[in-house]
Amino acid sequence: MSKKITSKVTWVGKTDWELKKFHGDEFSTHRGSSYNSYLIKDKKAALIDTVWMPYDKEFVGKLKKEIDLNKIDFIIANHGEVDHSGSLPALMSEIPNTPIYCTANAVKSIKGQYHKDWNFVVVKTGDKLNLGDTELTFIEAPMLHWPDTMFSYLSGENILFSNDGFGQHFATESLFNDTVDQSQLYEEALKYYANILTPFSVMVTKKIKEIMQMNLPIDTICPSHGLIWRENPIEIVKKYLAWADGYKENQISIVYDTMWNSTRKMAEAIACGIEQADKEVTIKLLNSSKFDKTDIITEVFRSKAILVGSPTVNNGYLYSTAGILELIRGMKMKNKYAAAFGSYGWSGESVKMINEELTKAGFTLIDEGFKTLWTPDEDVTEKLREYGRNFAAKLQE
Ligand code: FEO
Repeated sequence: MSKKITSKVTWVGKTDWELKKFHGDEFSTHRGSSYNSYLIKDKKAALIDTVWMPYDKEFVGKLKKEIDLNKIDFIIANHGEVDHSGSLPALMSEIPNTPIYCTANAVKSIKGQYHKDWNFVVVKTGDKLNLGDTELTFIEAPMLHWPDTMFSYLSGENILFSNDGFGQHFATESLFNDTVDQSQLYEEALKYYANILTPFSVMVTKKIKEIMQMNLPIDTICPSHGLIWRENPIEIVKKYLAWADGYKENQISIVYDTMWNSTRKMAEAIACGIEQADKEVTIKLLNSSKFDKTDIITEVFRSKAILVGSPTVNNGYLYSTAGILELIRGMKMKNKYAAAFGSYGWSGESVKMINEELTKAGFTLIDEGFKTLWTPDEDVTEKLREYGRNFAAKLQE
C-alpha cells in the first residue's frame, strides 16, 4: 500500500517482511527490510528510486494506481545498486523515454547491470530540478556507499532523500521513526552503519558537514531502507557523527572458535578475569562458527577492545576465524585494541597469525597474546584469568 509522507510526497516502496539475508548471504536482516521509493507530485512529477527486482511488477502495478506512468516527468536514481534500481527495466519498458537523473558513476553502474541506453541526465552537486512549487537539489555522496551514490533534497517540503545513508533493515507497517520501539530502531540503524558504512566513515563526516554548511532546512530524512526520520531527524545525524568518529562503548568482545572446547575454556577464563578487574565493562563471548557474522561485526564495532581466539589447525586458524578476521579487516575500524589467544597441540601458529591479521585490520595489539598447550588445567586457567585481569587493567590506563 502506498503511504502519504506529505501532501506532495508519497511512499511507493516495498516492505519486505521475508528478507532474512541481504547482499547475498552477507548481511542478516532479522527484522526484514524495505526498499523505499518516493513519488513527488508537484506541477511536475518525479520518482525517487525504485525497488528490488523480484518485486518489479508489483511495484509498477502499485505505481500505476498513484499516477499515470506517462505523467512521471523525471526519474531520480540516487544509487544504482539493484535493491533500488532493480525495477527500472520493468518501469522503463512502459515509459522508455523518461529521463533518469543520476550521477556520472550511476550511468556506469546502471548501464553495467541492465545494458540499456536509457535517457540518462548526469547531475552534479548543486544542480537543481524545478518541479513547480518545489525544487530538487542534488548532492553527490560518492562512497556512501558506492561511487555512484547521491542524495536529493526537496525544497518546500524540506526532505532529504538520503538513499542508503541513515537507513536500517527494519520492516514495519508504520513507516515513521516515532512509531516504533526506539531501542530496536537504533539497534538496526547502528547495525546498518557498522556493516555498510564503517569503511567510509571519513566520507560520512565530511558529507554531513558539507550538508550542514548548505544550511538547508531539513524536516524529514527519507532513506531508502526502513523507517523515515520525521521526528527529530537531527538525532540520527548526531549518531552518525559519533559512529563515524572511532566509535566505541565500554564493551569487550571475545570472538573465538573452538574444536574440542579448549579455546572456549580459554575464552571463558579470560572473560572471568576481565569481569574480576572491571565490574562496569560489558563482556560478550561470540563463537564465530555459531553466531551470525553481521551481528559479530556489530558487536566488534561497539567494542573498545576485542580478543580473537582459535586453536591451531593445519599450521593456521579455523575457517570461521579466517572469515571473521577478513570481515573485520574490510571495516577499517579505528580506535580499538585487540589481542589473540588459542590452544594448540604441537605447532601453535594461530596466535601469531591472528595477531598479524589484527594489526593489518588497524587494531592496536595489547600484547603478544596467550597460547595454551592442549587443554587448560586449573593452573593455566588461573593464568588466563590473570591475563584477563591485566587486559582489562591495561584498557583502563
Ligand atoms: Fe540499499 Fe546500496 O543499496
